Amino acid sequence: MVNEKGSPNNFLDPSTGAKQTLRRKAEERLQKQSPAPKSETPEETGRLLHELQVHQIELEMQNEELRRAQEDLETTRDRYFDLYDLAPVGYLTISEKGMILEANLTAAQMLGSDRSRLAGQPLSRFIFQDDQDTYYLNLKQLFRNQVPLTFELRMHRGDGRPFWVQIKTRIAPNSEGAPVWRVTLSDITERKRVEEDLLQSKNQLRILASQILLAQEKERKQIALEVHDVLGSSLSAIKFKAEEALYHLPKDGTLNISKPLEALVPLITETIEAARRIQADLRPSLLDDLGIVATLSWFCRKFEMIYTGIKVDQAVTIQEEEVPDHLKIILFRIVQEALNNIGKHSKADSGFLGLRKVNNTIELCIRDNGEGFDPESMPSGGNSEKGLGLSSMKERIEFSGGTFSLQSAKGKGTDILAVWPG
Ligand SMILES: Nc1ncnc2c1ncn2[C@@H]1O[C@H](COP(=O)(O)OP(=O)(O)OP(=O)(O)O)[C@@H](O)[C@H]1O
Ligand SMILES: [Mg+2]
Repeated sequence: MVNEKGSPNNFLDPSTGAKQTLRRKAEERLQKQSPAPKSETPEETGRLLHELQVHQIELEMQNEELRRAQEDLETTRDRYFDLYDLAPVGYLTISEKGMILEANLTAAQMLGSDRSRLAGQPLSRFIFQDDQDTYYLNLKQLFRNQVPLTFELRMHRGDGRPFWVQIKTRIAPNSEGAPVWRVTLSDITERKRVEEDLLQSKNQLRILASQILLAQEKERKQIALEVHDVLGSSLSAIKFKAEEALYHLPKDGTLNISKPLEALVPLITETIEAARRIQADLRPSLLDDLGIVATLSWFCRKFEMIYTGIKVDQAVTIQEEEVPDHLKIILFRIVQEALNNIGKHSKADSGFLGLRKVNNTIELCIRDNGEGFDPESMPSGGNSEKGLGLSSMKERIEFSGGTFSLQSAKGKGTDILAVWPG
C-alpha cells in the first residue's frame, strides 16, 4: 500500500510529481496493451470495477509484504553492522596476493586508516619492519598446510608506532570460489606489556636469589675458615695442654685430678672431630685442595659410612680440568643435598652418582631406587614446611646456566639430572 504520509522507502512512497508520472506511464502502457473498449454494458462495467478492486487489494497486500521484507533487511543489516563492523576484534579479508579486500571498522581503527583507503593495500604495509619475516614465514605455513593458524607479531598504525596483535587466519573461498584469507586481529599490547613486566621481575628475582646463594657460599667459606683457624687450633692447643698436664701429674696419686683430666682428653678429641665435621659441612677444604672429583668420592664414602644400608655407585668420568671453577661448589652442593635427601627420605638401598662430559655438556645425575614421591605436590618456590633443598638445588643449577629436571614417582625412585653447556 502506498503510504500517503510518507515512508522511509521512496519507491513505495513516490512524491506527487513522481506519482503523476508513474500514472501517466501506466495509462500509456494500458493504452498500448488494450485500447479502451468503445462501449460497455453496465454488467461489464460492474465486473471490471470488481476486478479492479480485487487487484488493488492484491497490490496493497504485496506492498505490505515488501515493506516487511524491507524492515527485516534493515534489522539484518543493523545486526551485521553490530557483529561485523563493531566487533571487538578486527576482521580482514585478504586476497591470495596479500591485498586487503575488506576490513571492518575495528580493523580500520586499529590500522589507523580510513576503511575505504585500506582496500587494495598490501597487508604487509602495516607489519612492523622487524616482524616481516615472522609474517611471511607464517603465510608460507598457512598456504602449505592449509590449516588455520595463530601467531603474534607487531603491526603499526600510520604514525609508525608498533602495537602487538594476535593474528588468527584461515583460507576460505570467496563468493566466486577464489581462495582468500579471513583474518582476525586482536590487540594484545597490554598482555605483552604485562608478560614483559613479569619476565623482568622473574629475572630480577633470579638475580637476587643467585646473589643470596653466592653470599651464602662466601659466608660459609668464611665461617669454615674461622672454625678451622680459631676453634680447631685452640682446641688442639687445649688438648695438647691437657695431655701435658696429665703427663706431669705426680704418679703417686697425691693430686686428685688425674681422673677428670683423663676424661677431658677424649672429650676434647670429640669436640675437635665435631668442629671438623661442621667445617666440612660448611665447605669441604678438600674441594679447594684437591678438586671436585676427589671431593665427590670422599663425600660418597662418608655418606655410605653414615647410611650403612645404602650403596652408592659412582661413575665420575669427567676430568678435573674439564669442570669450570665456578661450577665446582655448585656441583658439590647439589650432590650434598641430593644424597642427604636419599638418606633422609628415600628408604633406598642403592643410589647412583654420575658426572660426565658428553657432547659439549656437563651432565650430573643422581638416582636412587627408593620409594619416590610426587613432585607435583611440591610447591614450586619451596616452603618452610617441606624444606628448601630441592628448590635451592634448582635455583643453583639455573642461575649457573644449567637445566634441571627431576623425575620421581611413588615406588619408582627418584632421578635428578642437571645439564650445563660446557
Ligand atoms: N630422594 C628422595 N626420595 C624420596 N622423597 C624425596 C627425595 N628427595 C626429596 N624427597 C621429598 O621431597 C621433599 C622436599 O625435599 P627438600 O630437599 O626440598 O626438603 P627437605 O629435605 O624435606 O628439607 P631440607 O632439604 O630443607 O632440609 C622431602 O621432604 C621429601 O618428601
Ligand atoms: Mg632436602
